[in-house]
Amino acid sequence: MSNKIIIILVGMPARGKSYTSNNLSRYLNWCGINSKVFNCGDYRRKIIGGFQDANFFDFNNQENFNKKEEISKICFNDLINWIDDTGEIAIFDATNSIKERRSFLKYNCGKYSDNLLFVELITNNKDIILNNLNLKIKSQDYVNSRDKKFATDDFKKRIAFYNNIYQTIEDNENLRYIKLINFNEKIFINNVFGINESLVMSYLMNLKLNNFPIYLTRHGQSENNLNMIIGGDPNITNLGDKYAKELHRHMCNEISDDFVIFTSCLNRTIQTAKYFKQDKIHSRLLNEIHGGICENMSYKDIEQIYPKICKERKEDKLRFRYPQGESYIDLIERLKYFVLELNKYNKPILIIAHNAIIKVLLGYFIGIKHDKIPYSEIELNTLIRLTPNSHNYAITYNKLIN
Ligand code: F6P
Repeated sequence: MSNKIIIILVGMPARGKSYTSNNLSRYLNWCGINSKVFNCGDYRRKIIGGFQDANFFDFNNQENFNKKEEISKICFNDLINWIDDTGEIAIFDATNSIKERRSFLKYNCGKYSDNLLFVELITNNKDIILNNLNLKIKSQDYVNSRDKKFATDDFKKRIAFYNNIYQTIEDNENLRYIKLINFNEKIFINNVFGINESLVMSYLMNLKLNNFPIYLTRHGQSENNLNMIIGGDPNITNLGDKYAKELHRHMCNEISDDFVIFTSCLNRTIQTAKYFKQDKIHSRLLNEIHGGICENMSYKDIEQIYPKICKERKEDKLRFRYPQGESYIDLIERLKYFVLELNKYNKPILIIAHNAIIKVLLGYFIGIKHDKIPYSEIELNTLIRLTPNSHNYAITYNKLIN
């Protein structure tokens, strides 16, 4: 059995299936696992075109039912072709709400029947449903409908049709499954093991709806920044201190003081956070990339003394590991569980860290392709705000001092 996985979402409409699928896929890609979401709704819109109102989902209408099943087969077929090729974890995003459909998928996935992993989202929490409903009425299906009330009523009617036929996963279906009740309030796991499965499980265990912004910034200018020296544990300069003050003023203006602050364990980030009164979490996971034998050297000296290091780093900045130090891939590995931890706070978060660390975190939050991560430009004196939307984060940059 290969370690490829086909994740099949199961759940009523507005339970967070697309939110879960897209966030999970973004995380897996960032972790270096080739993942893709196959969304049946997208296929329906492309194949049938136009707008299908709630009546399309009336299960008593055999013609529409057949159309829907046909579309799901086309979508699933594309998924199988993709996983046969280079895909590692495919995510089939549809309601898959009846046993008959799940059984069809199980017996029509070729050699992958042992690789299917069903993820059922069960939600009775009104806030979660309302949140998803609000996302839904802004989705592709209602993009041309200016009338919010029409969209809400139509979507509620669609939910009612699904309510009539929905069948939760039962053990006699003999499926490998994870059932999430109100995201991670209660979790049931049946017959799930394996390395990639554990990673999927860790992500799902920590996933929540997040409505709060995340702020990322490098520390204020350090003595080493002045001299283009990498690594080390220098103090911040007067200009760095000016940034620390401005950062404090700006954050207090924008969101008062009810937010969580993370810094690394290095002086320059701790000093940048010093004007904030609240407790800070100092995490080694946020320390700058370790330059190994190049720590405390300037880029110019590295080039002169270790030309081979410079050349190799230029050739593959993502994978290049400083001798006795780290690579960008190592940083992703280091931050893989840190990003999951952030979900637990339910508050805005400010992370004061370092150049390479912010590049890697940004790669996760906005889904930057691996090879591009080391080349993001993260300027000093700039606060990055990530505002959550349905699948990832909208980004704004704010240069606080010149
Ligand atoms: O130059 C500041 C710094 O934070 C160094 O400590 C670190 O090695 C570097 O940035 C990371 O950026 P890059 O990978 O582009 O060299």
